[in-house]
Amino acid sequence: MTRRVVLAYSGGLDTSVAVHWMGAELGLEVIAVAVDVGQGGDFDRTRRRALAAGAVEAVVIDAKQELAEDFVVPTLAANALYEGRYPLVSALSRPVIVRHLVAEARKHGAGAVAHGCTGKGNDQVRFEVGTRALAPDLDIVAPVRLWRITREETIGYAERHALPITISRDRIYSIDENLWGRAIECGVLEDPWAAPPEDVFSLTRATATAPFELVIGFEQGVPVSLDGAPVGLVELIAKVGEAAGSVGYGRIDMVEGRRVGIKSREVYESPAALALVAAHRDLEGLTLERELAHEKMRLEHRFAELAYDGMWFSPLREALSQFMASTQRHVTGEVRVALSPGGGLEIVGRRSPRPLYDYGLATYDSADSFRHSDAEGFVRLFGLGVQTWAAKQGIGRSEDLPER
Ligand code: ARG
Repeated sequence: MTRRVVLAYSGGLDTSVAVHWMGAELGLEVIAVAVDVGQGGDFDRTRRRALAAGAVEAVVIDAKQELAEDFVVPTLAANALYEGRYPLVSALSRPVIVRHLVAEARKHGAGAVAHGCTGKGNDQVRFEVGTRALAPDLDIVAPVRLWRITREETIGYAERHALPITISRDRIYSIDENLWGRAIECGVLEDPWAAPPEDVFSLTRATATAPFELVIGFEQGVPVSLDGAPVGLVELIAKVGEAAGSVGYGRIDMVEGRRVGIKSREVYESPAALALVAAHRDLEGLTLERELAHEKMRLEHRFAELAYDGMWFSPLREALSQFMASTQRHVTGEVRVALSPGGGLEIVGRRSPRPLYDYGLATYDSADSFRHSDAEGFVRLFGLGVQTWAAKQGIGRSEDLPER
């Protein structure tokens, strides 16, 4: 193996110590790669920290557009919510980061990719399975899994080696954030009975004082406009997040089944993701043919599971994305979203240039275009199997009838 490794670098304590530790203990040259997925922060400082910790090279990559186009768009097409609730925030950023780790490894002639995950979570799975899918020849190094020291000892290591970190011995939460939302773990949240303290939230603090509406426009399943004005994808996600977050909408508090078999209490805030999925789903109600819509719902669950499990670059996820994409051809139109302080979000209207809703068929007014005489035979044949079955059983059975 080449003595070079490319590390997914966040600028935090663990990955800073990892830079130094892999050099000192494993004799590796470390190339630190920091990927901007919309988590915010000062990336110049992140770069300087990596170099100060001993990295031979530090690279910063802006992947926000790529995360939105290549990962959020297919995920939204699939209305993907893991276990019906979690919009896959961290699960989407890991494969983008992996893409860049592998590209940098090629560029710098590195033989391995490293990450700062522990052995208990999903993120190690996503980094490693993703890397193996894109670069089966590269090795993986997981220093945090190898060194097995406590948080106190990690801070001690950083202090002994004068690594520039922001020391916060009382930092209680583990937070992962990107443009699709924010995940909060640890501290008091490890008790699933304890309600999350208000201070864990930042995207969903209610500031709006009056209800308001937002019209989201979609073009073939991709959100493209707000209140009728075209908006680029990254900005649109941010704006929808701000609007929905301002009424306190977008919080999720759940006990989740991790890939590694651990149940964990997770708190998320994902106002943009949840609002966009709600609006997109609603527009599908208007534009997708019934059988297609029903089969799609079954596959959405599978898509979410694959993304969650780190199988983004698997043939099944790719095939499912092609199916999802083919369903989006007519998912074009606008959705009226009503937001009200206190966390309320409701879809109150939808329209499309090619709706499957047909007033003439749906109306109960007398001037309809529906041939009522068709219904009688259709319903008789639809129920024929059950009717025959019932007759052969010698029914009506008294036990199926209400008691007097
Ligand atoms: N449980 C979530 C997931 O697996 C969130 C993970 C958050 N990661 C973190 N390093 N705090 O996707």
